[in-house]
Amino acid sequence: MLSPEKNQTLTQVGSGTPMGEYLRRYWHPIAGVTEFDDKAVRPIRLFGEDLVLFKDLSGKYGLIQRRCPHRGADLAFGYVEKEGLRCAYHGWEFASGGQCVHQPYEEIVDPEARLRKKTAVKAYEVREKAGMLWAYMGPAPAPELPDWDLFNYSNGFAQAVFAELPCNWFQCQENSIDPIHFEWTHNNWTARQQDDNAEYVPTHLKTLYEEFEYGFVYKRLRASESEQNPMWTVGRVTLWPNAFYLGHHFEWRVPIDDENTLSVLWVFSRVPKEQEPYVQDRIPSWYGPLHDENGNWITSHVANQDFAAWVGQGPIADRSKETLGASDRGIVMMRKRFFDELDAVAGGAQPKGLITDKAANKNVRLPSACREEMLNGLPRAEQDKHPLLGPYLRDFIGQAGQPEEVRSSYEKAIGQKTQRAKFFVVHGAETDD
Ligand code: FES
Ligand SMILES: [Fe+2]
Repeated sequence: MLSPEKNQTLTQVGSGTPMGEYLRRYWHPIAGVTEFDDKAVRPIRLFGEDLVLFKDLSGKYGLIQRRCPHRGADLAFGYVEKEGLRCAYHGWEFASGGQCVHQPYEEIVDPEARLRKKTAVKAYEVREKAGMLWAYMGPAPAPELPDWDLFNYSNGFAQAVFAELPCNWFQCQENSIDPIHFEWTHNNWTARQQDDNAEYVPTHLKTLYEEFEYGFVYKRLRASESEQNPMWTVGRVTLWPNAFYLGHHFEWRVPIDDENTLSVLWVFSRVPKEQEPYVQDRIPSWYGPLHDENGNWITSHVANQDFAAWVGQGPIADRSKETLGASDRGIVMMRKRFFDELDAVAGGAQPKGLITDKAANKNVRLPSACREEMLNGLPRAEQDKHPLLGPYLRDFIGQAGQPEEVRSSYEKAIGQKTQRAKFFVVHGAETDD
């Protein structure tokens, strides 16, 4: 249980809030590169700020305030130039760094452009990596944008999958240190949605939580498994501060504002040995729906099941009314670390897990329960039986709504048709995803 004040500290992300300022010191994925194939400008809200994200005619990305400083027009209606974005109202133009680079009429009246030189908008740095656009909204200098080793694996099909969720980011991130939910939210719920009498999967017997440089690792052992199981020997990574790393995919929970979160999945599907060599030319990105055609929550795919759980906790989970138990030990540890971090950073310390050394930012390894299989690949028949990689061979179980063109490139990459099943289908109703 937390006091309402402490709950606010964890959940409020606006400018000037302790958590908002803290999280801004990390890079966050905010969009897919392929979104800019057919548009150049889009509005985006991050950390409670209304912004526009654009790609100018020279290919440079910019992230600037949404309201034009002239008379307040919406820069999402702007159009791009060689060097920046031009307001559609009176043509003031802003470079990605925020400076005003053209004020057409003002510069005729005053060739020295005194007003222009004094005009700038708020601007944040944007970089491209792994098919995604990343923003840094903290104080300069920006840390390194982490080069996690999974980004550099070969013979795989990567995709970036987004969704906007109507709930606070922190309850999403608490899910990254919540092993017990796999059994109930994914395995058993999937089975029971299809058959009221379906048997439950083997239950969890014990869990373990350990802190390390880049977050926490949690380990879990289920009744069917030996202590040699990689979920017990290696575990999974609660990636600091707002992500989850599962060996074959990442998940980020990026605050849009206090009551909305951008969910980002980056999934790398290793192709079977028979498909090698496979080289992906471009990483697709797409947004999945939360509701089906009847307006009901989609609860058939892994991420959608999580979304339903998180959104169900309310726009901002009320942690003064919860009843924590042994299954929540990791969550308690994580909250404590955030409070300690906020204090430490207020005292001038560097935030946890930031990579600031360029030379050290190469192929940074995180604990992975499936590194060998991901690096070296498996023959199709073996991969099919793999608890993590097998289900993805049969269908894209990560999130509902995969566009047809992505699905067909995915099928081509893995060398087989996917099931397009209403629910994700797993052997024995059990998956480690
Ligand atoms: S309001 Fe943007 S140029 Fe006038
Ligand atoms: Fe989950």
